[in-house]
Amino acid sequence: MNINNIPQLSIKNNHLHMDGRDIVEIAGHYGTPLYIGSEQRIEDNVREVQQAFQKYHANTTVHYAAKAETSLATLEIVHMAGGSLEVNSGGELYKGMRAGFAGKNIIFNGVAKTEKEIESAIVNEIKAINVDSPFELERIVETAMACKKQANVLLRIVPDVASGVAKGVETGTHECKFGTMLEDVPAMLHYAKEHEKWVCVRGFHFHIGTQTYHLTSFLESLQVLLEFAANIYKEMQFLPEIIDIGGGLPIPYFIDATASQYMQPSIYQMLRGVLTTDEIAEAVAGKLHAYDGIFKDCELLLEPGRKIVGDAFVMVSRVENKKYRRAMNENWIMLDAGLNVMSEVKNYHWYFPMVCANKITEPHMYPVKIAGPLCESGDVWMDYDGHKDLPDFRMMPESVTVGDYIAMLETGAYGTSMMSRYNGRPMAGVIIIRKDGSLFMAKKPETYEDLLTGEFSIAE
Ligand SMILES: Cc1ncc(COP(=O)(O)O)c(C=O)c1O
Repeated sequence: MNINNIPQLSIKNNHLHMDGRDIVEIAGHYGTPLYIGSEQRIEDNVREVQQAFQKYHANTTVHYAAKAETSLATLEIVHMAGGSLEVNSGGELYKGMRAGFAGKNIIFNGVAKTEKEIESAIVNEIKAINVDSPFELERIVETAMACKKQANVLLRIVPDVASGVAKGVETGTHECKFGTMLEDVPAMLHYAKEHEKWVCVRGFHFHIGTQTYHLTSFLESLQVLLEFAANIYKEMQFLPEIIDIGGGLPIPYFIDATASQYMQPSIYQMLRGVLTTDEIAEAVAGKLHAYDGIFKDCELLLEPGRKIVGDAFVMVSRVENKKYRRAMNENWIMLDAGLNVMSEVKNYHWYFPMVCANKITEPHMYPVKIAGPLCESGDVWMDYDGHKDLPDFRMMPESVTVGDYIAMLETGAYGTSMMSRYNGRPMAGVIIIRKDGSLFMAKKPETYEDLLTGEFSIAE
């Protein structure tokens, strides 16, 4: 039996397994909280996106968004699977190159790139720096002059289309901080032409947000970009070589519909994420091939993060305390993993399916409230603000108790990469199950000694 339709998850001996390995055993061995990932699933996801889009538009390149899960091993797996890379900082660029990506396979995004970051992008001859503003274009030209090397760029435009996803993860409207308004783009193209020795505009880019679950949001944004580009082509004879539609491919987060009764319909819809990659690919390619075919030879770029790693990892934690709140008639369990391990829950009111990994065949029908260990009222796995974005109760086996392992599924995206040491808690380790079934420590579970890294004593 698969869990949540994720092929690498299965059940054996009442335990959750990933790629045939016992999650409970791995957690017992390495300690919790712990992220456990599947090399096979990451590889399959890269290939699935590539193949889905290449079926409809052969000249498609998938640039994995490194920020979703930035472990060196994950970057290496994406590289070995034939993926390219999207980075958002000099640090991610550094790690990407350490993982084996060549500059020509890297795209660099960001709203506040430093001169040093721009310089390293230019020196490493990356495929494109996605320019965020007219000012930044000038900064890139000046840096290119100093480096005596031409910079490749895409212009990030604001399509002003809402993705319909929770506020805080929308990135394609005028309210957000990202990109350049269309009306500024012609002047940027003129400026680039005047400085063509130092800058080559290779095309246009947008990214409207994560977990974009309406096909219309992708299509409306693309329509804005293509209509604009078609006009620019007419007026300035500038034809983009690359059209980069960003990331945001959604994944389904639900085991079943029980959570729907506790959640706002729009949030529930968003987290169901039923839109398939194939549907998006077919519709996007259809649009790209319209417009009298002027864009049919363009390279189509995607920057998926969540879709590549989201369902490839589980996060396992252990129940460390329990209580019954008589006044509220509520049962609570307290885990060793809180928002220090998975800050997306607090930041974006995200929902992750949870199962009791060591009692997985027992009926999960007993409502409990679940909290993390931090000295923070908001460190709970439910909607603390009372907006009903998240379910208040999670369904667990009636026997759930201290010492049980709770696995949170589909925690591969924006989990490990947003961990912190808040409350003096060492960061969780990351174990990857290799394709041959062996376990690889991608990131060692931290110790108390790691809490002192880079700190100095004034007493000694
Ligand atoms: C510019 C850009 N590209 C790609 C992504 C990846 O998005 P996702 O993980 O939803 O695919 C992000 C994430 O926010 C982004 O900001």
